[in-house]
Amino acid sequence: MLLDQSFRRTLIARLLLSAGPSTAAALLVAAPGCGGEPEAADVRCFEWPEELGACLDRRQAVEELRTLYPRCNDYIESVESDAVQRDGTCCYEVTSRHNSMYCGVPGRPFTLEGHRRTAVPRAADPGWLARGRETRAGGTMPSLAELTDEERETLAESWLRSALEEHASVASFARFALDLMALGAPSSLVEAAHIAALDEVGHARLGFSLASAYRGEPVGPAALPMPGGVPVAADLVSLARAAAEEGCVGETVAALMAAEQRARAGDPAVRAALEAIAEDEARHAELAWLTVAWAIGAGGEPVRRAVVEVFEAAALSLGRPPPAAAEPPRGRAAALAAHGHLGGAELRELPRAALAQVVLPCARALGLWTPADAGGAVAPTASA
Ligand SMILES: [Fe+2]
Ligand SMILES: [Fe+2]
Repeated sequence: MLLDQSFRRTLIARLLLSAGPSTAAALLVAAPGCGGEPEAADVRCFEWPEELGACLDRRQAVEELRTLYPRCNDYIESVESDAVQRDGTCCYEVTSRHNSMYCGVPGRPFTLEGHRRTAVPRAADPGWLARGRETRAGGTMPSLAELTDEERETLAESWLRSALEEHASVASFARFALDLMALGAPSSLVEAAHIAALDEVGHARLGFSLASAYRGEPVGPAALPMPGGVPVAADLVSLARAAAEEGCVGETVAALMAAEQRARAGDPAVRAALEAIAEDEARHAELAWLTVAWAIGAGGEPVRRAVVEVFEAAALSLGRPPPAAAEPPRGRAAALAAHGHLGGAELRELPRAALAQVVLPCARALGLWTPADAGGAVAPTASA
């Protein structure tokens, strides 16, 4: 699969300008690879109004949670506890698999204690609908005329998942700004982190607005769970590793995914929303590459080695089979793509193409990754 040529080439140029070439000279020497992340247990919830009665049993809850958390980097393996029902939600202890972060999440994840966190959706909540600049961008009122009820439901779920992840990205950038402050970063990075958090507020509003339109009633996020508080990065190694994973990889992939969604979107409102999101995510990717360059300059070899390990892991993920993803109903793929929903094959392949065609070539150009024939893991299949 080849990504949109124009967007891909422009993004590569922007990323390399962000992090090099002045900094590239400082980024030499290979580093050992690293494996996938371990499985772990955590608590996941879904909305369950009290009028519906008791929560689902464990077997039913697995299916419900997999629908709500279908991303390949956050697969629900099993439900380990009976439900705890409170405040209109059912919560379960689960075992999930955090395979990798290279699966095309639509923004920077908010991670606590090794797990990605998102809020539970809250029905009839208009507090996160688009306003101001998002409304002017036009991405709030899709045409529903040609859609079946089933397609509207699919699109509502798809945009709701995306909106919840964008909503979590607001918190991720808020914490990132504190990380930067705590580690003495320059004002340009701190400023860009705050601007990125506001971008994510806009993305979340667009997502909730589109989800609400397809659903036929407003939907927003409940409180974002942060049990035990939110720690800031302890050192430059931690900061750089997170920036490389979530930004250099995650947001670069996210920018390219949004560009591909936009390329397939025929609905004007959806296309406008994805246009804005793709451009913002490209700037967020630039910020990540800039941050990594600054951190390596400030922290030296230990920081550089941590970043190399991230790209080694990304390259290794290309050698593993892609995770399963649901295909749209037969004959309806184009209709759903017109509204921003991609099919399973594209969801599986696009992140891998983004890695191979943009992320790893950029890392290689900056001396942060070496392909297999030169002693690294896997060679990318194409470059700009
Ligand atoms: Fe975003
Ligand atoms: Fe982002």
